[in-house]
Amino acid sequence: MLEGKLTILRPLEETDLERVYKWINDREVTRNLAARYPLSRKDEANWLENGPPNSYETGVRMAIETKDGVHIGNLELTAVKPEDRKAQLGVMIGEKDYWGAGYGSDAILTLLRFGFHEMNLNRIWLHVFEDNSRAYACYLKCGFQEEGRLRQHYYAEGRYWDSVVMAILRHEYEALHVAAEEAEAAGV
Ligand SMILES: CC(C)(COP(=O)(O)OP(=O)(O)OC[C@H]1O[C@@H](n2cnc3c(N)ncnc32)[C@H](O)[C@@H]1OP(=O)(O)O)[C@@H](O)C(=O)NCCC(=O)NCCS
Repeated sequence: MLEGKLTILRPLEETDLERVYKWINDREVTRNLAARYPLSRKDEANWLENGPPNSYETGVRMAIETKDGVHIGNLELTAVKPEDRKAQLGVMIGEKDYWGAGYGSDAILTLLRFGFHEMNLNRIWLHVFEDNSRAYACYLKCGFQEEGRLRQHYYAEGRYWDSVVMAILRHEYEALHVAAEEAEAAGV
């Protein structure tokens, strides 16, 4: 388990099926993800059952739980490239009542700490669609910087959307968060 201030990250279990099935078929959630096709329970069960174990080679996917044990979403580090020491972050809070309350940024910071300090990554990057202002604000708050814009990269709802590339480097994460954590631990 990985512990944040508001969230716990734990491996996904087969018993998570009903929730992930509901979230992946909720268009309000998935319109922000590169996930456009409705999926059956069987598709989702396969995804849960046949996913590889978390490892450097295959990446990491975790459930996000609140401290009182409510499973509210998932996040992952994929496309791990050992030579480049980089990985791609994906995150989804499927329980919409929990949006905008700090759970996403807390879970992301917890996974960044694991990615940089346990997996020894140097760069964690992501795509965010141009109109996803909540996610963009969340990533900025975590220390990601905008690096560029892929024009008309994604098609949805009858039109093309730009995709913004954002990333955080290990030294940036450390400058922003490690000093703050050390000061907090020392009670400064
Ligand atoms: C994106 C997501 C992970 C962010 O998690 P979250 O818990 O909602 O985000 P946080 O509360 O930690 O941070 C969001 C920030 O955006 C701000 N915000 C909230 N709604 C906003 C909006 N509509 N427009 C702009 N900013 C907004 C919040 O105020 C907060 O900033 P603050 O803490 O400085 O006030 C979550 O909303 C989610 O999963 N959404 C659906 C799927 C998705 O978009 N995934 C990401 C794909 S790139």
